[in-house]
Parts: sequence; C-alpha cells; structure tokens
Amino acid sequence: MIVDFYCCEGGASAGYAAAGFSVVGVDRDPQPRYPFPFLQMDALEAMDRLLAGEWLTFHTKNGMPLFAHISLMAAWVGSPPCQARTKAQKIQGREHPLLIAPTRERFIRSGLPYVIENVVPDGFDPDPLMDPVLLCGEMFEIETYRHRLFERTSIWKHRSTRSTWRGRQRWGADQCLVSTCTSSATSPASIADAR
Ligand SMILES: C[S@@+](CC[C@H](N)C(=O)[O-])C[C@H]1O[C@@H](n2cnc3c(N)ncnc32)[C@H](O)[C@@H]1O
Repeated sequence: MIVDFYCCEGGASAGYAAAGFSVVGVDRDPQPRYPFPFLQMDALEAMDRLLAGEWLTFHTKNGMPLFAHISLMAAWVGSPPCQARTKAQKIQGREHPLLIAPTRERFIRSGLPYVIENVVPDGFDPDPLMDPVLLCGEMFEIETYRHRLFERTSIWKHRSTRSTWRGRQRWGADQCLVSTCTSSATSPASIADAR
C-alpha cells in the first residue's frame, strides 16, 4: 500500500495505481472525486499519527472502512501545495506554508521509500527539493508539456544514465527540449529509467 499525502483528486495516485500499487489518499479538503480509499485530515497530522503507531481509517468510495497501519505501507508519496514556489503567488504577496521540509522530515523518519513531487520553482526557492529528477509529460508520450520535479529515496533512483531509447536523443542531462526549463535537476535518459 502506498499513501499519497496531499492527494487532491488523485492524479498522482492514479499513476501509482497504474503501476500496480494499492493507493490510499490523504487531503485536508474533501475530495469527492478521489477514486481510492480516502482520509480527510491534515497531512502532517496523519503522518504524526502513523509514526506514533496509530491506525488510521480510510474510506472507500462506497463507504467501507479500510484500516491502515504504517507496518502495512510500502511507501509514502506526496505533492505538497506548490503556491509558495510560483511567481503568481509571489507577485500577489501571499504567504503560504512551506510544507516540503516538514513532509521530508516525517517521510525520512518513517523509514519507508518516499517520493515528493513538486513544480519547478520560479526563482528563489524557499523550500527546495533535494536532488530531484525532472520529468516531463512528453517523456511518457503525453502531449502535456509540463515539468515536475521528484525527490526520492535511492530505491526509486534511476540506475543508469545510458539508454538506447530515443529519449536519449531528445533530452539533455538537465533540460527538456520542449520548453525553456532551466532547472538544474537531472532527467532520466529513458522512460524505463524514469520508472
Ligand atoms: C498540488 S495539490 C496535489 C495534486 C495531486 N498530487 C494530484 O496529482 O492531483 C495539493 C493538495 O494539497 C492539499 N493540502 C494543502 N495543505 C494540506 C495539508 N496541510 N494537509 C493535507 N492536504 C493539504 C490541497 O487541498 C491540495 O488538494
């Protein structure tokens, strides 16, 4: 079982489910469109409760309870809200909590493999990801040219930077050719590496 914290409507969860994992989601807001077992709770509180050995109760779409304990979990993943990292929010002068660092601290304490996903920051990043890998929709032959950064424990890291896949010709070491991304993150050389 994978727990997707900050799950929203479940875009990331759907990806993990497609890769063969059972997924449950946590979000502080109701998410009636989330397709997997769901718990409405502050994500940091949910992590703290799991770390304290508590069982949490998720509910399936048809209302069945699903009891979850950290010992049953294979990995923790999450996409903390990204507003603090985007230019639009900085221009509007809004304050947003920086959730990546406290999420990482708990993820590491869990001892589980983890992934933290976020947008590419716009300028100075007050809450950076550590050694993230950059993925773009086009790498997966999806015509959505969006870049996302993924910090992950070493078990998830790509093993090779060499590939015969055509992606090798299409992406440089630090940049996707379809846009002007200037992230210093490294890109995997192939779709297999990305997985
Ligand atoms: C960037 S979205 C996640 C998108 C999601 N990964 C997807 O693929 O659809 C961030 C989500 O975090 C939730 N959120 C913000 N602060 C939270 C908190 N303290 N605890 C739990 N969820 C939170 C928001 O309600 C929002 O749904």
